[in-house]
Amino acid sequence: MLRLAIYPGSFDPPTLGHLDVIERASRLFDRLIVAVGVNSSKRPLLSTEERIEALKLSTASIPNVSIEAFSGLLVQYAAEQGAKSIVRGLRATADFEYEFQMAMVNRRLSPDVDTVFLMTKWEHSYLSSSIVREVAHLGGDYTGMVHPSVAEIMEQALKSS
Ligand code: PNS
Repeated sequence: MLRLAIYPGSFDPPTLGHLDVIERASRLFDRLIVAVGVNSSKRPLLSTEERIEALKLSTASIPNVSIEAFSGLLVQYAAEQGAKSIVRGLRATADFEYEFQMAMVNRRLSPDVDTVFLMTKWEHSYLSSSIVREVAHLGGDYTGMVHPSVAEIMEQALKSS
């Protein structure tokens, strides 16, 4: 049986922490769909199309990963794709309550779908999309926090904002 998992998120922008989770999950599953949530932030830095492009470029070397957009309920999207596993990254304990709540809601909505948590690398544990967005908006150096192709897309987006 093909082991298919969904890694959902806002990815505005995708950080090196996200990329690390994608690499780890791609080794655990036969196929991984990175699912970009549409309309997850009212004031995004990157449009859905830019996030998808950024993720496609930064995961181009991983053959079993595909990038898609999704809207509506995550468990419904997972059912449509035939996935029984949801992957989420965990950094420090601060992530736990939110992740626990989401996993429980998703389990209640769809008992046969499990959430699998992967710890990010220690060196990425301080990274979040919101921190990267703030640094970028305030003119700080965010290279080294995101993949170079993501940094390029961010640079363009910032110039035209
Ligand atoms: O990267 P994020 O912002 O933590 O990702 C959150 C996301 C997109 C995974 C979450 O908001 C989500 O699953 N949204 C879809 C709506 C849904 O299914 N809600 C019920 C579960 S909380």
